[in-house]
Amino acid sequence: MSEFESISIPSKPVIASFLPVQISDIFKDYHHWTNYQIEPETNCKVWEISAWVRDFRSQSEHAFISLTDGSTSQILQVFCEKANMSNFDSLENLRGATVRVKGLVKKSPAKGQDIEMVCEKIEPIGLVADKNSIILAKTVQLETLRNHQHLRSRFRSFNYIYKIRSQLLKHIHEFFHSQGFYNLDPNIITTSDCEGAGEVFTITTHNVNEIAELVETNCHDRFVEKDEKTIAIGSLTNSDLYKDDFFQKQAFLTVSSQLQLEALCAGLSRVYTLNPSFRAEKSKTKRHLGCFTHLEWEIAFIDINQLMDFSEALVKYVIGKTLQSCEYEYTELNKFISKGIIDKLNNVVSEPFQRISYDEAIKLVEENKNAILKKFSKEITAKDIPVWGDDLGSYCERYIGEEIYHKPVFIYNYPKDLKSFYMKQNEDGRTVQAVDLVLPQLGELIGSSIREDSYEKLVGRMNEKQMDKSVLQWYVDLRRLGGAPTGGAGLGFDRLVNFCSLMDGNIRDVVPFPIAYQECDY
Ligand code: 4AD
Ligand code: MG
Repeated sequence: MSEFESISIPSKPVIASFLPVQISDIFKDYHHWTNYQIEPETNCKVWEISAWVRDFRSQSEHAFISLTDGSTSQILQVFCEKANMSNFDSLENLRGATVRVKGLVKKSPAKGQDIEMVCEKIEPIGLVADKNSIILAKTVQLETLRNHQHLRSRFRSFNYIYKIRSQLLKHIHEFFHSQGFYNLDPNIITTSDCEGAGEVFTITTHNVNEIAELVETNCHDRFVEKDEKTIAIGSLTNSDLYKDDFFQKQAFLTVSSQLQLEALCAGLSRVYTLNPSFRAEKSKTKRHLGCFTHLEWEIAFIDINQLMDFSEALVKYVIGKTLQSCEYEYTELNKFISKGIIDKLNNVVSEPFQRISYDEAIKLVEENKNAILKKFSKEITAKDIPVWGDDLGSYCERYIGEEIYHKPVFIYNYPKDLKSFYMKQNEDGRTVQAVDLVLPQLGELIGSSIREDSYEKLVGRMNEKQMDKSVLQWYVDLRRLGGAPTGGAGLGFDRLVNFCSLMDGNIRDVVPFPIAYQECDY
C-alpha cells in the first residue's frame, strides 16, 4: 500500500456531530429511519435546536410556531400546549425572534408536513426590539426588500433564491471538474482594461488631500479630461499622479480575467475562474451591476462550433441539475413569485439552442422591425433599430429569443468594430469570431470568442484601436512564445441566477448585497 492509500479520511457524517443541530438534521434523521420502515410512531426523539421564528399562530389553549434556519427551505412546526408550558402567555413576543427550543419530534397529525416538534421548552436568544420592523411583515415584495438587504436572508423567497444560487455554483464546479479544467483565480487587481471599454475602477491608496496637494504643488490648472482614460491635471500626466502610489503606476479592478486565463491556458489547456469583475458602467438596468460574479473559461485548440457546443452543454447541465436539486424550492416559486419558471427552465434543458450569424440576426431585425417596436414601445423608438454594424441591443436580442425562436440563441460572427481587440478576425476582413448567447427574457448571458492567435494581426488591431501596448506586452508575447490558439467565454453568473429564479426579474434580487451605478449602501 502506498503512503497515499493509507491516508485515513474520516467518513462523511450523516449528521455532523461537531456542529450545532439543524432542522435538516432532524428531517434527515426521521427519513433515515422511515426509509428502513421503522414505524414512525416508535421513532420519536427529543431534539434541541436554535433557529428563527418565521411565523406564529395561537389559539386559546395552544400555539404553532414555524421555525427556520436555512438548512432546508421547509419549516419545522413546533406545537405548544398551554397546559405544559409556564411561559405560554408570552410566546407572542417570540414573533420573528431567535429561539432555542427543546421537544419531542414525532409524526405530524396535520396535513402538508411529515413531522412536528411538541415543545417542552422554548426560550429567546434574541428578541425583535422593533415591532414595526419589516422582519415581522407577512408578505413583502422583493423590490421593497432591496432597501433592507441585511434582512433578506430571513425571508422565504430568499431561502429559495439563495439556495438556487448556491446549487448553481456547485453544479458549475462539478461540470468543469468533470471536463478536466483547472479552477484558478487570477488577481482581480490589474494594469489593463481587458475589454477596452474604459469602464474601469481605478484603485489608489492616495486620498483626496494627497491628490489636491500634488495638484497644488505642480500646477494651478483644473482637471482636464483628455480622452476617456487619460486625466491630465495641468502638466501632470497619469504616470505622475500614480508614481508614489502603492504600485507606482495606475492599477484597476479587473473587468475580466480573460487575458490572464489565456496565459494559464497556454500550458494547462483548460482553465476557469469565478472571479468577480468590476464595471463602472453608468447603467441602472435590471441586468447591470458594478461588480458581478464572472464565470470565465478558456480552452486550447478549440474552434467556434466547439465553443458553442461547450457553452450549450454547460448551461443545460447546470440548469438541469439545479432543477433536480431544488425541487422543493422550484415547486414553491412556481406557485407564487415565479409562475411558469419550471416550464421555462425545462425548455432550455430539452431543446437544442438556435445558432445564427450576426448577418442573419440583422435580417431578422429588419423583417420584424414593426413588431419589435410594438413589443418594446415604452423602451425604444425607430432610431434604436440597429442596421449592419450596430450593436443589436438588448431589446432586439430579446425579441429574437422570445418571439422568433422561443429558446436560447447563439449569435456569431459580429462586425469587428463592435468587439474587443483580442477576437480572431475572419477571412472576410469585416467580422470576428465572437459568439454571444442570448436568452429569452434576459438578453445576453454569455460573451465569447476565439482569440486572435496571429501576432501581427493582434498588434495591427491594437494599433487601429490606438491601445497602450506597453501594459499588454506580456499578452501579445504569448503569440510568439509557442502560442496556442484558444477560445473562451464569460458568463454573467448573477444573470444566470436571475434567469433561473425569477420570471423577467431584476438582478438586484438574486445577489447578496448588490452594487450598481449610484447604489452602494452596505
Ligand atoms: O461580454 P463580456 O463583456 O465578455 C467579457 O468580459 C469577455 N472578456 C469574457 C471572456 O471571454 N472571458 O462579459 C461577459 C458576460 C456578459 O455576457 C454578461 O452576462 C456579464 O458578463 N456582464 C455583466 N453582468 C452583470 N453586470 C454587468 N455590468 C455585466 N457586464 C457583463
Ligand atoms: Mg458582451
